[in-house]
Amino acid sequence: MSKEKTVYTCTECGGTSLRWLGKCPSCGAWNTLVESVVAPASAAAAPSRNRLSAAPSFAALAQTAEVTLLSDIEAQDIARTPTGIDELDRVLGGGIVEGGVVLIGGDPGIGKSTLLLQALDALSRRPSGASADEPAGMDSLYVTGEESGAQVALRSRRLGLDHSQVQVLAEIQLEKILATLDRLRPSIAVIDSIQTVYSDQLTSAPGSVAQVRECAAHLTRLAKATGVAIVLVGHVTKEGALAGPRVLEHMVDTVLYFEGDTHSSFRLVRAIKNRFGAVNEIGVFAMTERGLKGVANPSAIFLSQHAEPVPGSCVLVTLEGTRPMLVEIQALVDSGGPSPRRLSVGLERDRLAMLLAVLHRHAGISCADQDVFVNAVGGVRISEPAADLAVLLSITSSLRGRSLPKGFIAFGEVGLAGEVRPAPRGQERLKEAAKLGFSVAVVPKANAPKKPIEGLAIHAVDRVEEAMEAVRSLQ
Ligand code: TYD
Ligand code: MG
Repeated sequence: MSKEKTVYTCTECGGTSLRWLGKCPSCGAWNTLVESVVAPASAAAAPSRNRLSAAPSFAALAQTAEVTLLSDIEAQDIARTPTGIDELDRVLGGGIVEGGVVLIGGDPGIGKSTLLLQALDALSRRPSGASADEPAGMDSLYVTGEESGAQVALRSRRLGLDHSQVQVLAEIQLEKILATLDRLRPSIAVIDSIQTVYSDQLTSAPGSVAQVRECAAHLTRLAKATGVAIVLVGHVTKEGALAGPRVLEHMVDTVLYFEGDTHSSFRLVRAIKNRFGAVNEIGVFAMTERGLKGVANPSAIFLSQHAEPVPGSCVLVTLEGTRPMLVEIQALVDSGGPSPRRLSVGLERDRLAMLLAVLHRHAGISCADQDVFVNAVGGVRISEPAADLAVLLSITSSLRGRSLPKGFIAFGEVGLAGEVRPAPRGQERLKEAAKLGFSVAVVPKANAPKKPIEGLAIHAVDRVEEAMEAVRSLQ
């Protein structure tokens, strides 16, 4: 078979070059050229996009394409098939969708293969309690490129999946995978992982951006054409991005990321993008001896277990998707060298620098000659600004070496002018904290409840200075 022609395309501007170059000749970006296949020109000779002289042929082509009024198109509800794993269904927006493509990313060893094998097995089983004449489970195919069939079998035994009906294909060549999918037409297929799949048509190595992008594009096209739901497993690079600068994210319908600390047993699956459901919903799992188990009530799992409060620790009530969760924020402020460090784990570092500036300017508390480290316990990543107040209170608590009172929680966004802004759905957050036995809260004024909440003393504040004052009176 003759090799197809390849060109190098810039991932930033789309400019092309026949040779690989370090710098894109069109936009000047570095290291953005990736190899891709040139599709052979069809008989109709697609008009060149750049040349105006090709314009007359557009008219001929336009007659062949039909235009429909939006109101005439029948809107169909998307049919979802629940996987039976509730926490996974929650992030998927109800279940898997026919022809939908899901990308699931995460660090190695975090549990991607485990979760997907469990999900495929659950889907392929007849629902428990169903009678014999009801349809059997779905046809599912697990394409493994990283492990052998025997290793997958070993994992399934460990997970206690006896008599599993999941079909397994150990293959990494794209063309063979596509042919098998087309022949078997399973309802759902998992490609574990997309980085191991390679196409003969490209000369670059498996796992390179060009290969990953090309293979994912082919698989996506097959999913749309045949209705097979496809789940692509992707590894995350050291910087936390999927290999191939976000090239896969816009190609697929749903993007899920695994988060969490491999040292703790809790794992979060977060929806970053979902054409079929809400984003920012999270699923919470615990890794056990027999695979991942959903945690239905996760609000208290990110608290470390101190018997007595310690300096530098403040509990935050954060909102993850639709659920409030309590997360402990820890800070350590220690005398630094000539250029003090600001480090954060699970929280944005730029925001930390901003908060330290607000603390200095508006509350007169300076950390200029101190190293500041901040950590969200349990490997959870917090992106909402409502964490600001808890971060500041943990920092001042560490700086002074005085712990916050027992049963203390805080939330609220802090602005550059030193104002404390309300967080969305404050009532729910407060109620969850009260339910878990917390007794003192410092919250934005606009979030103060109209009716008192039993067992919870609330200090409503408008400004950072007030928050510091309120805490000092409690310590
Ligand atoms: P795995 O699903 O292989 O991760 P990924 O596919 O994301 O790389 O997860 C492997 C880890 O999970 C490994 O460290 C062992 C652990 N594990 C359990 O704790 N219990 C189990 O039942 C299984 C199957 C794995
Ligand atoms: Mg794996």
